[in-house]
Amino acid sequence: MTNLFEDQSLKLNTGALMPAIALGMSAREETPEEVKAYFRKALEIGYRHFDTASAYKTEPMMGEVLEDVLNSGTIKREEFFITTKLSPEQTHADDVIPSLRESLSNLRIEYVDLYLIHFPIRIKPGMKPSGARATIPEDAFLPLDLVGVWKELEQCVELGLTRAIGVSNFGSNLLGVITADAKIIPAVNQVEMHPGCLQPRLLDVCKQMGIKVMGFAALGRPKHSQEFTSIAVIDSPILKEIAEKHGKSVAQVALRWSLDHGVGVVVKSSNPSRMAQNLNVFGWNLDEEDHKKIATMPRFRLQDGKIWINQTTSPYRSHQEIYDCWSD
Ligand SMILES: NC(=O)c1ccc[n+]([C@@H]2O[C@H](COP(=O)([O-])OP(=O)(O)OC[C@H]3O[C@@H](n4cnc5c(N)ncnc54)[C@H](OP(=O)(O)O)[C@@H]3O)[C@@H](O)[C@H]2O)c1
Repeated sequence: MTNLFEDQSLKLNTGALMPAIALGMSAREETPEEVKAYFRKALEIGYRHFDTASAYKTEPMMGEVLEDVLNSGTIKREEFFITTKLSPEQTHADDVIPSLRESLSNLRIEYVDLYLIHFPIRIKPGMKPSGARATIPEDAFLPLDLVGVWKELEQCVELGLTRAIGVSNFGSNLLGVITADAKIIPAVNQVEMHPGCLQPRLLDVCKQMGIKVMGFAALGRPKHSQEFTSIAVIDSPILKEIAEKHGKSVAQVALRWSLDHGVGVVVKSSNPSRMAQNLNVFGWNLDEEDHKKIATMPRFRLQDGKIWINQTTSPYRSHQEIYDCWSD
């Protein structure tokens, strides 16, 4: 099997290598059997980084496959990289270690490679919003102590439950909050990033802090972006022209664009040929002219953080408290 750890990885501030392409395991539409099948297929195709979360509910299916694969000896634990995330319903210091232990039990492994705070928010159980335009009732928010939560993530490293820790959906303000008194600087910040949403200021701040960025929705979530933009990333005439020039697909150009920015990508496909295509993005680059053209594409953001803001119960009163401006 291909080892993606050598030349297709990002080096974390822990010294570990993280494969730059992760397969998204959010599986909104697939049945449990389909999730197991596409996870198994992805391992066969050569994926070595998988991005799941307690909230995605796919850990148990992955666990079944992982146990099987590890017992058969076809792949060793150190040959793949698993990221999972603390659910927004458990963003409380007391819940961190039990939550990660539950994820490990679901995944049937001894440690994960990366554990992330999924959102800088804490909501009541059962109030998880679904859909990007969903709203959260004001009484769903619970008080949040991000510094206390981060200390428990640090403890997870001490306990050997995870090799690295990080965050997701954090803007530079919030990175400042948790790093001010941290023993461990986050290894990764996973945020939305695709050719419609480059976040130059955040990329800069993460670079200065030694935090690697993983971009999610790296293809701009083709089937669900109509509400946010008139042209889906995958239908962009600019990307089509560039794809023709390089003899690549539009998806490959979009993924290469992220990699060229030094950003890893989380991309989801359950279709074997598209999975293979999305992994085949190494050994070439976009040129300066391509990057200039892509910079003129219409901007949009699938997750703008508005659902997390209210004037009473949320820790955030304005967008800027959570996210950086993403359109500059
Ligand atoms: N941290 C967070 O808050 C957060 C938020 C959102 C997502 N994520 C992570 O990011 C992952 C991906 O996000 P996403 O699913 O929202 O967005 P995405 O990866 O941009 O889009 C996935 C969609 O693109 C299609 N697709 C994949 N490869 C393609 C190709 N080569 N050509 C054409 N279409 C292609 C897939 O359909 P087929 O399956 O039919 O190929 C699927 O419908 C998630 O699974 C999750 O792991 C994290």
